[in-house]
Amino acid sequence: MPATLLIGAQWGDEGKGRVADWLAADANVVARYAGGDNAGHTVVVGQKVFKLHLIPSGILHSSVTCVLGNGMVINPVNLVREIDEIEAMGVPVTPDRLVISSRAHLITPAHVALDAASEKARGADAIGTTLRGIGPAYLDKTGRQGIRAGSLRNEEELADMLYRMVERANPTVVAAGLAPLDPQKAALDVIVAARRLQPYIKDVTEYINTRLKTGDRVLCEGAQGTMLDVDHGDYPFVTSSSPTAGGALTGLGFGPRYVDSVVGVGKAFSTRVGSGPMPTELSGDLASRLRGTGENFWDEFGTTTGRPRRCGWLDAVILRYAARVSGFTELVLTKLDVLSGFDELKIATSYRVDGHEVSMPPDTLAQLERAEPVYETLPGWSEDVSRARQRSDLPTNTLRYIQRVAELCEVPINTVSVGPERDQLVHLS
Ligand code: GDP
Ligand code: IMO
Ligand code: MG
Repeated sequence: MPATLLIGAQWGDEGKGRVADWLAADANVVARYAGGDNAGHTVVVGQKVFKLHLIPSGILHSSVTCVLGNGMVINPVNLVREIDEIEAMGVPVTPDRLVISSRAHLITPAHVALDAASEKARGADAIGTTLRGIGPAYLDKTGRQGIRAGSLRNEEELADMLYRMVERANPTVVAAGLAPLDPQKAALDVIVAARRLQPYIKDVTEYINTRLKTGDRVLCEGAQGTMLDVDHGDYPFVTSSSPTAGGALTGLGFGPRYVDSVVGVGKAFSTRVGSGPMPTELSGDLASRLRGTGENFWDEFGTTTGRPRRCGWLDAVILRYAARVSGFTELVLTKLDVLSGFDELKIATSYRVDGHEVSMPPDTLAQLERAEPVYETLPGWSEDVSRARQRSDLPTNTLRYIQRVAELCEVPINTVSVGPERDQLVHLS
């Protein structure tokens, strides 16, 4: 059966782009199904570092067709910019290589302004969104007043809808103390982008089912992560879409019978960008060592916003939960190289909440905020593992760490990543 789902197991930025790039080598189609340009997926090919926000990582394989599914929210202006940037780096993004669902929703200038207004109005309770207009666009989608990508084909109708959307948004934007949008300018920018994007728009549900039926392999590239899922994450500090396995089916429009594997991607420690609970968060020297200084592109600073990421020990409670929510068939562990040089490493194996020990995250925010991690301590390793290419190259303590994570989340780990480059993978079996 031909579909593989690739899902972030933590709070995003697990290295999904890098793992998708590896799996894309065996795929015919790589499809994004949720989120928008809040995502930032880094892929390194030779000397080039690609930072992809909307376009799936498969674009870097010339035989792959990329798909933006109906579950996504797409900022047309930013998509055109990304196409141009990638083409300038030598990768063609022609309409035979990228297909945009006519049912995907558009992020308009009004949504971006409303995101800023909403964050400002929340004050100290701000979510720390990426300010890309994601929440307001999904709000309009579920409120049945959004604009679908199919409307990019009808400029007159589009201009009218954009105009009305800005007029609806402006009172809220002004009430938050922000400058109102000029509806004409807002509409014009989108229409210029629409002209470029028209040839890319198709019925993706038809397209993807046709490809699946003929036996083509489809890789569904998740964005964000399980704890940012609007249903399963730590609401309200979440995004507004479903990055987990169910979202892939809804967000592309095909049935579960095609899915043969669900690959979770987990980082060997925890990171989070934005607000919300993070039980294993560290501060001081340990956090700084995990984060890095920012000198390397893989250091823990947001790909989309540049914000420093919060860092902490690996949380097996979260990984176990992610494996349950999406039914992982395997887990790929990334950034093991960053753990070199620690005398000892801690893993949260459970939480203590109100005097009880629990093995899954509690279902209320207040309890998750009170959760105290119960740690197991493992010996670290001093060796540089970034040159490891096979199991026998890895130190015993690294293998022990990997084995313990697999046991704790009850999912096999067959592959680990020891660096951002294509060949920095170790297949364990
Ligand atoms: P994504 O959003 O899940 O695709 O992850 P990001 O691209 O936002 O963040 C992951 C960062 O870690 C990127 O800079 C990757 O190039 C980098 N990366 C991925 N895997 C590894 C690894 O095994 N080791 C190191 N050092 N960096 C990695
Ligand atoms: P990738 O695909 C990490 C976080 C934001 C914020 C919350 C809501 O690169 O892993 P939003 O803009 O979606 O309304 O913000 O979700 N967030 C991410 N954090 N990686 C991402 O994507 C994220 N996408 C959204 O920081 O806390
Ligand atoms: Mg990212």
